[in-house]
Amino acid sequence: MSTRPRILTGDTPTGRLHIGHWVGSLENRVRLQDTYDCYFLIANMHAFTTRAEKPAEVRRDTLEIVKDWLAVGIDPERSTLVLQTEIPAIAELSWYFAMLVPFNRVMRNPTLKAEIEAKELGDHYSFGFPLYAVGQCADILAFRPELVPVGEDQEAHIEMCREIARRFDHLYCGVASTTADNEYVTRGGVFPVPKALLGRISRLLGTDGVKKMSKSLDNAIFLSDDTATILKKCKKIVTGRQSATDPGKLEGNALFQYARAFMTDTARLAELEGLYTRGEIGDGAVKQEVAGVIDAFLAPVRDRRAQYEGANGDALILEILRAHTVRANTVAEETLRMAKAAMHLDFGPRRLQFD
Ligand code: TRP
Repeated sequence: MSTRPRILTGDTPTGRLHIGHWVGSLENRVRLQDTYDCYFLIANMHAFTTRAEKPAEVRRDTLEIVKDWLAVGIDPERSTLVLQTEIPAIAELSWYFAMLVPFNRVMRNPTLKAEIEAKELGDHYSFGFPLYAVGQCADILAFRPELVPVGEDQEAHIEMCREIARRFDHLYCGVASTTADNEYVTRGGVFPVPKALLGRISRLLGTDGVKKMSKSLDNAIFLSDDTATILKKCKKIVTGRQSATDPGKLEGNALFQYARAFMTDTARLAELEGLYTRGEIGDGAVKQEVAGVIDAFLAPVRDRRAQYEGANGDALILEILRAHTVRANTVAEETLRMAKAAMHLDFGPRRLQFD
């Protein structure tokens, strides 16, 4: 096993990933592969919290998200893909952790609250829905990572995870609750108190120019979009500017947020910003150029994705997932063994078998 410090993060498979995911988290993940032992989790069990009646869709999205990850440069040789439903230790830890956090504390989690509102779940969400927040703590702690690279919207979950780690270590490993977060393990705790690592841009606007980019709002540029689609979507970006000679505003402008996120030619970016604020260039010309930049960024992503498309693609993905499940379980089972021993639940070893 690698001796590099570990990170864990993941996504719920809900459909194709977009450029907001790239700047919010994927970019970080790809970079962190150089220095960390990386675990990337596909939260396919969590997908059932809101789509229990659509198992075929969840399965399709599970394979699709892996294709998107590999396409952007997640390297299956260096990093480990964690298929949540194949890691029994996660479900087991979820139970133990559920006992360490008051029910009312879970329900006060602002990310859960926001989701209930955004998805209009009212008061008819399942019992499993709020449980997923505790489950997410198990996803993370099963791998005892140092860092959890996520978007801003996940910070509340990471905070709860930190509370559970401290509580477990205090209760079952005798770590004083005054201990500094980075010393829980050296003082004998099973779990480190992991830190969230936020992406470069936590809120990429959608092409509607107002809301955060999101598949369900129909304002997203997907990582798998082709050249023509990207151009068409960029042409529709709402900037609110009336005419090409109006002095343009850069702040809160989706078009320039994309330009800043994806233009590597900083001199040209500065030039465009100058022309725009002085009213010397039209939206159309900027949109054309930004579309070109996004397309150039996505071209190699599409190429890499192509090798996983078609009938053979799914088989290839499944093969990778199976091999990685073995690797992931090695770590998660070790964690579970340590946690159960601390809880006086060491009733003998067990071995998972895959065949
Ligand atoms: N809740 C996260 C999302 O919807 C996905 C997720 C599940 C996750 N388990 C995780 C993220 C553990 C980070 C760490 O985006």
